[in-house]
Amino acid sequence: MSSLNTFSKITAQTIAIAREMEQTPFYLYDEAQILEKCAAALAMPNAFGLHVRYAMKANSTRRILRTIDRAGLYIDASSFNEARRAVLAGILPEKIQLSSQEVPQGEERENLEHLMLSGLRYNVCSLRQLYLVGDFAAKHGITLSIRVHPGVGSGESASRNTGDKYSCFGVHKSDISAALAYAAQKGLRFTQVHDHIGSGGDPEIWRHNIDTMLGFINEFFPDAETVSFGGGLKEARLPGEVRADIQSLGEYAKQQITAFYKKTGRKLTAEIEPGTFIMANAGYIVTQVLDAKSTGCDGFDFVILDGGMEVNARPLLYGSSHPFYVVSGQGELRSSDYALPEGEILPEIVVAGRCCESGDCQTLNPRGEINTRRMAQPQIGDSFVIGGAGAYCAAMTPFNYNSHVQAPEWLYTADGKLVCIRKAQTLAQIVANEV
Ligand SMILES: Cc1ncc(COP(=O)(O)O)c(C=O)c1O
Repeated sequence: MSSLNTFSKITAQTIAIAREMEQTPFYLYDEAQILEKCAAALAMPNAFGLHVRYAMKANSTRRILRTIDRAGLYIDASSFNEARRAVLAGILPEKIQLSSQEVPQGEERENLEHLMLSGLRYNVCSLRQLYLVGDFAAKHGITLSIRVHPGVGSGESASRNTGDKYSCFGVHKSDISAALAYAAQKGLRFTQVHDHIGSGGDPEIWRHNIDTMLGFINEFFPDAETVSFGGGLKEARLPGEVRADIQSLGEYAKQQITAFYKKTGRKLTAEIEPGTFIMANAGYIVTQVLDAKSTGCDGFDFVILDGGMEVNARPLLYGSSHPFYVVSGQGELRSSDYALPEGEILPEIVVAGRCCESGDCQTLNPRGEINTRRMAQPQIGDSFVIGGAGAYCAAMTPFNYNSHVQAPEWLYTADGKLVCIRKAQTLAQIVANEV
């Protein structure tokens, strides 16, 4: 077998120790890896300054937010509750941006106004939002960010493209003149122009978007001081996948922002908003093998885990593939996509979860069909670890489906301790609000 330590700082032995402390399934995050990714994002080349804003939708657990806040990143919240959650985690409102599909009403509206007065940046994502916050912002001299619709996007699947005409995020070019007319009438200023073209898409389209955004600012936004290129930096979860080269993208942004300065005399600060880049490869889901079945000689060999779509919905939602690690009860790595035993032909296995749903499968292809993966034959009771699971897993699953409880989250700290950062939900919590 080639390199055994394919888990970055976490090892197969750590998985075995964690399993003695917590029942499967559970999430396990690698703090050292999170900190490394924060540092890498902050080191992206830039011309006149860079803000890195963590897209907290990727993983919103308090301890994760605090780690990332302490590393020097700001926050992008996708709903008002996310913004409130960041505040509850101790993050200052002035470090938070709200980019959402709605303006809170009633009591929540008062809370929003309070946070805006305390420095929360409001990212206007539609004309209606502008009309709903415009008077308040004008009255208090609060400047705004505007999310524009770039017309072109790219994502790991069609549903993760947020920049083309099939996606409704941001103020479309055809509505910008109405937004500018309203802003002029109210005396409002857009000091940031923002977009987000999608998640996990083609890095070349991300590069092209840098020019699109500078073009928008040149044509429409004389008050802009910051240009935000959003998130979406592609991450490699499996061997053979190629991640976005953020050095090269940063160099390009630097070059184009410098050229923009030479042409206009305007020095723009750059902003990026990664979620996946920071968290994806810092998280694992530890499950155990419950059962093995076959569908006959022209069918498939299945293993059944005690955690599937309710802990990782990404295969079902996007046809995403994650690395797998088969670990024995003694903490020996038996196989992984990074370390396959040499000279052995490994069986092809379908990895299913325990939900009553044919789609509860971790080996779906992008068309939603059952696929197989080669691995050492998992034995009942082995740990089966799903990697690349730090982003959009714990934060985005149908966790109470089949009345399974929400799985707990653990952190392997930078100084080598295993700590629980969110406890398992209980059945009593699932039924608590039923009347
Ligand atoms: C507005 C916005 N910013 C940033 C992100 C983060 O994207 P990613 O996790 O691909 O970096 C998202 C994700 O959908 C988003 O909607």
